[in-house]
Amino acid sequence: MLGNFTYCNPTKLYFGRGAIENLNAELPKYGKNVVLVYGGGSIKKNGIYDEAVKLLRAHGKNVAEIAGVMPNPTVGKLYEGMQIARAHKAEFLLAVGGGSVCDYTKALAVSVHCEGDPWEKYYLNGEEPSCKVLPVGCVLTMVGTGSEMNAGAVITNPETKLKIGHVFTDEAVMPRFAVLDPAYTLTLPHYQMVAGIYDIFSHICEQYFSGEDDNTSDYLAEGLMRSLLHSSRIADKDMQNYEARSNIMWTATWALNTLISRGKATDWMVHMLGQAAGAYTDATHGMTLAAVSLPYYRRILPYGLQKFVRFAVNVWGVDPAGKTERQTAEEGLSAMERWMRGLGLVMRLSELGATEDMVEGMADSTLVLDGGYHVLSRDEIVGIFKESL
Ligand code: NZQ
Ligand code: ZN
Repeated sequence: MLGNFTYCNPTKLYFGRGAIENLNAELPKYGKNVVLVYGGGSIKKNGIYDEAVKLLRAHGKNVAEIAGVMPNPTVGKLYEGMQIARAHKAEFLLAVGGGSVCDYTKALAVSVHCEGDPWEKYYLNGEEPSCKVLPVGCVLTMVGTGSEMNAGAVITNPETKLKIGHVFTDEAVMPRFAVLDPAYTLTLPHYQMVAGIYDIFSHICEQYFSGEDDNTSDYLAEGLMRSLLHSSRIADKDMQNYEARSNIMWTATWALNTLISRGKATDWMVHMLGQAAGAYTDATHGMTLAAVSLPYYRRILPYGLQKFVRFAVNVWGVDPAGKTERQTAEEGLSAMERWMRGLGLVMRLSELGATEDMVEGMADSTLVLDGGYHVLSRDEIVGIFKESL
């Protein structure tokens, strides 16, 4: 590990069955005017809404609601929420949902007191907040993004076909606390569960496939990937397996809570490609990543060969004896492909609604980053999208 860095993660986690009861310790710390933010209604069906509301009432909170935060939350929904939070004189925002609800709530936290247009300020210009940031708490119901313990907030502008993630550097944007009850994730449909599992795996890969130094983060990443593969195989067959689901939940948090990126350049090109596809299709985030990953990794493999060999051996158990480095590396990606297909991930963008005529536009929407093993040209981006269709 050669780089210098700062590490601080102020989010307090409450993990395990019944963890929501810890709202009793957290709610008194914040003002009376609370905005409860949630998605399209899953929390009403599975009873989590009732539990949260009961605790908010018990603490005498004056609660307004922002309901209907959609997967891949839009800038229009953000503007709507700003009006509700301003009218309510919000002092605390409680997100109850998945990554979309948590992301949206963090975006709202920096927008309620923002004087200009938050889309322009935070997303187009990448600025940090210069206004008061409202405190956020999260009760997580869907596992994958790591949003519960990071400062990321992805917002989509469907008109300009841009899906942009801003990872704020201001620690005030990170949730003050997060409630992680694995039992809350047991009502997720299989499709969402596996999309979340792949999102976790991709987050780890995005940080792992960069740099050539000997870095503790890479050993941590390999351990997280092995744990995830193990638990994912159990959960795929037995979705109600609490042990597997709880390990997946914990892995998701560590995959993207800033720890394993320390001292690393990090890649993130799978996410840039996936987000561009998401802006055009509004598809489930983890599935967009699954569809573009293998065409991307097969293309960059020659540039990061040593790391792909290490990945094959340490994560997938490929025996390198008698093989060239290239063969070992490719076997690793083949093993990854078998695992992905076994889980039932969507391996083609066309199955998510992408069409040939969208390719040029998706390429235009793809932000090109330079932290990985190879900086993609526009032709390569177009090529990857075509191979992913
Ligand atoms: O809206 P409801 O009715 O709640 O249904 C949701 C939604 O349809 C459902 N769901 C959630 N919990 C459930 C449940 N259904 C049954 N039982 C439960 N317990 O699942 C669907 C998907 O939820 P969503 O929050 O959209 O999924 P996810 O957690 O994958 O979040 C995706 C968003 O996070 C962003 C993505 O781009 C996308 O916008 N990301 C955020 C990141 C971050 N903050 O660091 C990083 C990620 O790479 C990602 O980009
Ligand atoms: Zn992701």
